[in-house]
Amino acid sequence: MQGFWKELARPCFVLAPMVGVTDAAFRRIIARYGKPDVMWTEFISADGLCSRGRDALLHDLWFDDLERPILAQLYGGNPEKMREAARFCIELGYDGIDINMGCPDKTVEKHGAGSILIKRPQLAAELIEAAREGAGEHPVSVKTRIGYHDNQIEEWLATLIEAGPAVVTIHARTRDEMSKVPARWDVIERSAQLARELVPDDDRRPLILGNGDIRNLHDAREVSEETGCDGVMIGRGIFGNPWLFNREVERDDLPFEQIIEVMLEHTALYCELFGEIKPFEPMKKHYKAYVTGFRGAAELRDRLMQATDLAEVQLLAKEALELESASR
Ligand SMILES: Cc1cc2nc3c(=O)[nH]c(=O)nc-3n(C[C@H](O)[C@H](O)[C@H](O)COP(=O)(O)O)c2cc1C
Repeated sequence: MQGFWKELARPCFVLAPMVGVTDAAFRRIIARYGKPDVMWTEFISADGLCSRGRDALLHDLWFDDLERPILAQLYGGNPEKMREAARFCIELGYDGIDINMGCPDKTVEKHGAGSILIKRPQLAAELIEAAREGAGEHPVSVKTRIGYHDNQIEEWLATLIEAGPAVVTIHARTRDEMSKVPARWDVIERSAQLARELVPDDDRRPLILGNGDIRNLHDAREVSEETGCDGVMIGRGIFGNPWLFNREVERDDLPFEQIIEVMLEHTALYCELFGEIKPFEPMKKHYKAYVTGFRGAAELRDRLMQATDLAEVQLLAKEALELESASR
């Protein structure tokens, strides 16, 4: 049941799901400029996809073939709904289903989903089983943390592996640690070792992907070698850097005009896809990350924080570029 995962080179380098960040527009830009080996959607409520409100969630499931292989990430605590939601996503054309068992958000936990599942191993196993039924031949994976209050990777990973996911991605912190302490890559090393002990057969063993605090491919390669994990997931490092997974281009070597052009392309795509349905505000966190490292960056950034649409952003960028070239 490893599906496309079997074909990927190891170690693989994948893009983390980040709600409000890795939406269809940003993913498409990333796919154009530096495609990771696998992409995830932002997390989506399995219960919501089984409710009458489903239509309002569909834009979270838009994707382009360019982004493949792509997984729909679901959260939920009800196995029947997980099964149905997984089936629905596969019908939409997703390459696999990922279950979120790591989100520390209290509202998510109240629904019996996210990291609370670390405390409910039986339910976690049932959810994996249900998603596998819904996904048919397609792979089901889990993204989780090393424990709830403390590191409990030994029991927790054994429970997960028993339920037969194709991949387990481990964010190397406990739920209580949120993102406040450095990621514990020694626990990823132990996880990779544990997976080999529990499932000696290479063909049947789930892949173990490590996650936390990695900012570039160079460090990703290094930690995968040091820990023996099968791949690395990178999240926040993608801010302002759609070239992150590009093996040939370094963002820091690019002229800032090119970065600004991609920022405009990203804005245009966001407006085209979401202009009618989402606020413009989420683009601002991207601007903060795109607009760095050149003279006049701070001023342009400040002005972009006031922008409300594509035309304004285009005008501000044009002025900043003209000013910069006049001062050369
Ligand atoms: C803004 C933001 C949104 C996130 N949304 C999700 C999500 O939807 N699903 C998920 O599994 N993890 C989510 N995460 C966690 C990331 O996928 C990742 O595990 C975490 O950022 C650590 O990786 P990093 O240090 O490479 O950023 C989110 C993180 C951030 C910063």
